[in-house]
Parts: sequence; C-alpha cells; structure tokens
Amino acid sequence: MENSNVRLVALDAICWVVLEKKSLSAFVYPDQNSSLTKSLVFGTIRFYHQLNDIVTDLLKHSLKKEDLDIHCLILLGAYQILHSNIAAHASIFETVDVANTIDKPWAKGLVNAILRQIDRDKGKLLSEKHASHPTWLVKKIKQYYPQDFEQIFKQNNTQAPMTIRVHPDFQLDKYQQQLSECGITTQKIKIAPQALVLDQATSVFNLPEFESGACYVQDGSAQLSATLLDPQNHEYILDACSAPGGKTTHLCELAPKASIVAIDSDEYRLERVQENLQRFNISSVKVIQGQAQQYDWWDGELFDKILLDAPCSATGVIRRHPDIKLLRKPKDIAALVTLQQQILENLWTMLKPGGTLLYATCSILKTENEQQITRFLESHEDAKETKIDLDWGIKTSVGIQQLPIHNFDGFYYAKLQKAVE
Ligand SMILES: C[S@@+](CC[C@H](N)C(=O)[O-])C[C@H]1O[C@@H](n2cnc3c(N)ncnc32)[C@H](O)[C@@H]1O
Repeated sequence: MENSNVRLVALDAICWVVLEKKSLSAFVYPDQNSSLTKSLVFGTIRFYHQLNDIVTDLLKHSLKKEDLDIHCLILLGAYQILHSNIAAHASIFETVDVANTIDKPWAKGLVNAILRQIDRDKGKLLSEKHASHPTWLVKKIKQYYPQDFEQIFKQNNTQAPMTIRVHPDFQLDKYQQQLSECGITTQKIKIAPQALVLDQATSVFNLPEFESGACYVQDGSAQLSATLLDPQNHEYILDACSAPGGKTTHLCELAPKASIVAIDSDEYRLERVQENLQRFNISSVKVIQGQAQQYDWWDGELFDKILLDAPCSATGVIRRHPDIKLLRKPKDIAALVTLQQQILENLWTMLKPGGTLLYATCSILKTENEQQITRFLESHEDAKETKIDLDWGIKTSVGIQQLPIHNFDGFYYAKLQKAVE
C-alpha cells in the first residue's frame, strides 16, 4: 500500500470512531494485511484524549463541522510525532499530503503548522502527564484503585500481547515447537495451562493447523473461565452470552461429553459461534438466539452449571479495544449493571440446587463486579460464594479481580453455589 493511502485509510478509520462514534471492530479495512495502517489507527485512538487536548489547544478556534476530518488528520499526525518511531519529517510530509488527497488543499498550511509546532514542543508535551482516558473514567479508576490507577492508565495505553489457547489434542509442548519451527516464538503462562503468549502478534493464518482447530486466540484471563467452572462429562451446562464462542469451545475441550447450550442475543455474533464450533469439529452444542434475562428460549430443564460471561463495560480490555474510551458513556455503565442484575436473577432460577454459576466480566469497575455480586448474595439466601483459590489477581470481598497487566486482561470472576433444598 502506498504511504499516502495508508494514512488515508487510517484517517477514514479514525473519523469512523471519533466523528461517527462507531466501533473500530466494525470498520472494514480495504487491505486486511496493512499492519502499519492498523498501528496508526489504534495508536491515535489509544492516545486520543491526550492528542485531542494538545491539538484543540493549538487550533485556537475549532474547525467547521464539515472540516472535522482535518481535526482528525492532525490527531493522526500528532500521534506519529509523539508516540511512533516514524521520523517526524516523514510523518508531517505524509500527513499533510492527505489534505490534498481529500480535496482540501487549503488545510495543508494549517496541518503543517500545527504538526511542526507539536514536533518543536515534543519534549515538553510528553513530560506533561496525561492519562489519555475520558474524565469520568479517570475519576472512577482513581476512586476504585487509589494505589494502582497510574499503572492501570499505563497498561491501558499499551498494546496487549496475542495469546492463544492450544487444543489439548495438539499438546502444548509439541505445538510450541511447531510454532517455533515457523519462526513464532512463545511463552507459557503458569496459571493457564493451555496458553501460549506470542512474543510478536501474527495473523492467525500463520498459526499451524489453525483451520483444523489447533488453537483459539484468547487472552490468559479469559482462559480461566472454563477451568474455574470445571465442566464434567454428562453435565448439563449453559454458556449464557456465548458469542463468539471462545469459552464454549473451551468447555467442550475440557468436557467433550457434556451437554452444552450456548445462547447469545446477537444473531450475527452467533454465526461466529457456529463458525468456531465448525472449526473445532464440534457438533454437540445447542446454539440458541435468546435474551439471557428472559425465559422463552429455555426448555425447562435445570442446569448443573452456568457460565455467565456477562455483557459489560469491557474496561478491562481497553488495551485491545481503545475505542471504548471514546464510545462508552457513564449512562451505559448504569444500563449494563441493570442488565447484568436481570440476567443473574433469571439464570439463577434455571440452576439446579447444588449447581454452580460462574459470573465473569472483562470489566474493572466495581459496580459491575464485586458490588453486583455482593448485592446478589445479600438478596438470595440460597446463594453462597465458593472462594476461588488462585494465585492470580486481587482477592476482593467477594470474587477475584485481575487488573490489566502483562499477560492478563482485566477480568473479574465470582463463583456462586446454589443451596441444596
Ligand atoms: C463478553 S461477550 C461474550 C464472550 C464469549 N463468552 C466468549 O468467550 O467468546 C458478551 C456477549 O453477551 C451478549 N449479550 C449481550 N446482551 C445479552 C443478553 N441480554 N442476553 C444474551 N446475550 C447477551 C453479546 O452479544 C456478547 O456476545
């Protein structure tokens, strides 16, 4: 891809998030292989709040609504100068050139002047601490984690590693060797026995036998879900909120003869579950579209175990989805907390006496985690917590909370057991 085209596509993706408020995962890149484009987009979105403060300050007057793409173009240039290892003169030259391509040659002088100023002030601008998170989230994270907030901001502004879960049939050591023969070096994680962390991210198509189900791309924290639920053959298990099927396929690996029902409310995401089941050659899972807070999809048979990987703010996976910082609003959190509560209430009635429900989120907000489960336990006499004995994360008053660090995304788990009547 030509350099100017790289930046043009990057600009499109940045406008998609910043101006149209759409999720980056829904943006279709014309060239799937352009890692430079993606790194420019992810970097600019990752540091959006910092870059936007700097650029807004230098612009003095905001641009007209129809020219906000130029504002985004300056953000893209500012990212390259402040946070990438692309030479400043090339960053400025290539970025200014995009103004021509989008038929706004009048903006070239403006883009050039601001980017040169940023380059001159680089040392000073970088010495000023900036969390690069929205104000409401900075406040929440500081309130919840007075000791750890700086580390959380820092982690959230880095790129998470690529981790895979290796199918037991392929044997971890053997597969690690196979990868290494393809030039892909990896590390094991003690706490997640099927996990390999890649030293350098790569396309899944470079992973040997990926299409035959050798592995699944899944973070180390997420890989604990199935292990913690401890599925057994012949149990009747519900994977509520299952798409795209990362944990469903894992449950099947651990208990191939369990009867598993996988539901999700999103029909398009359910297609991904079907694709993943196919790739793993699994035909025994019953896949149903349904709202987990409703009954209409349920056949009335009580479940032995339930995995509730609840819809959440995803504030634990900002490293992977930096657009969350732009798209999530405080009112979304309140709505999610209500939905999680409704789902929990409903699924609890579908669990056998003596059964286990594992509640999981990829959130670091206490309202969705510890506080949600505390309230549930207080209002359900037949629910009690089973302590999770893992050398991992922070033991909270109820459940266990991991913050985003190195090989782990931010994640929360609580294991609940229903009393035998
Ligand atoms: C964290 S993701 C699940 C990831 C999945 N468990 C995995 O490991 O691949 C949450 C899922 O909840 C689904 N969801 C959201 N609201 C729901 C609802 N009311 N009922 C069922 N599923 C819902 C979303 O479509 C999304 O696929």
